[in-house]
Amino acid sequence: ARRSLLKGFGGYLPDRIVTNDELASRLETSDEWIRARTGIAQRHRAGPEDTAVSMAAHAGRQALEYANASADDVDAIIVATSTPDQAFPSTAVRVQAELGITGGFGFDIAAACSGFIFALSTADALIRSGQARSALVIGSEVYSRILDPDDRSTFVLFGDGAGAVFLQATEESGTQGIVSTHMHSDGRYGDLLYVDGAIGQSEKSAHLKMQGRDVFRHAVAKLSSSVDEVLAANGLKYEDVAWLVPHQANLRIIDGVARKLQLPPERVVITVDRHANTSAASIPLALNEAVRDGRIRSGDLVLMEALGGGLTWGSALARI
Ligand code: ACO
Repeated sequence: ARRSLLKGFGGYLPDRIVTNDELASRLETSDEWIRARTGIAQRHRAGPEDTAVSMAAHAGRQALEYANASADDVDAIIVATSTPDQAFPSTAVRVQAELGITGGFGFDIAAACSGFIFALSTADALIRSGQARSALVIGSEVYSRILDPDDRSTFVLFGDGAGAVFLQATEESGTQGIVSTHMHSDGRYGDLLYVDGAIGQSEKSAHLKMQGRDVFRHAVAKLSSSVDEVLAANGLKYEDVAWLVPHQANLRIIDGVARKLQLPPERVVITVDRHANTSAASIPLALNEAVRDGRIRSGDLVLMEALGGGLTWGSALARI
């Protein structure tokens, strides 16, 4: 049967770094509070030249270079973003043009912080069904545009950036590639984490609102059941997982899932300390980092999971 191989990895982070101390000079918060509650020490902030499209294109280009693939090799482009630069054309087709890709098709997926899992799942389904021979899957987010600068309870949590993976179909037998993906949503919890308007409406709207405690509670419960679901679906046990590459929202949530999997900290890829929460970009950014620095190697079984606004949540298992 046809499977999707992970052939390329890429990432982009804006140059500008904002430390907790810098935030504390303007908001009633402190480095200690932010580190203790979230594990975040700093975040990258988009500059005037950084857009959802430009960051996605940087990350996508890197993923293609890693795979030694050219523009002609790309069939589908799927961008997960909740912060597109414009309503349409989609981020994906603008990236298509930026990268000089003239065949295939592109579209965006909005699933907030679960966006990368949803995009990966969609790309894998397109490849398995034969509708695409390859897919560039990108998460690109400019949350600095939707944060209320006066709301200390959300402003400190998020950063900007983009990450990408390039998938290619194989018909050869083997165990490498995406093993399975699992998506969930429950709109009854829409008011726990949402944006109160559309981008560009007015200065006072389109800000992220969050019930932090409730989101935390749902995250721990739903991510725990998600990791059980993906392992049970494939007849695997906790000890079969080589690496946890979680969505990077909060170190306490990540630690909770890692403890459940009985995974030691050195088997968990952490970027939240430096990137903060980059929503749909966080998993591919973490994957990119750990593959490039040699921690994740060919043959390793990687478990990914995420929860975000919607609520949406899900998991994915892949052998690199
Ligand atoms: N600095 C100092 N104090 C703060 C700050 C801040 N940046 N933010 C909030 N506080 C205050 C609150 O106002 C509150 O004060 P009060 O008691 O006088 O009202 C106090 O700290 C405690 O607030 P809580 O919200 O109860 O703090 P909690 O321990 O729950 O931590 C946090 C807050 C970090 C947001 C936590 O709830 C959390 O991590 N939730 C998960 C949310 C998340 O990660 N969302 C990301 C998107 S979803 C996802 O990706 C999983």
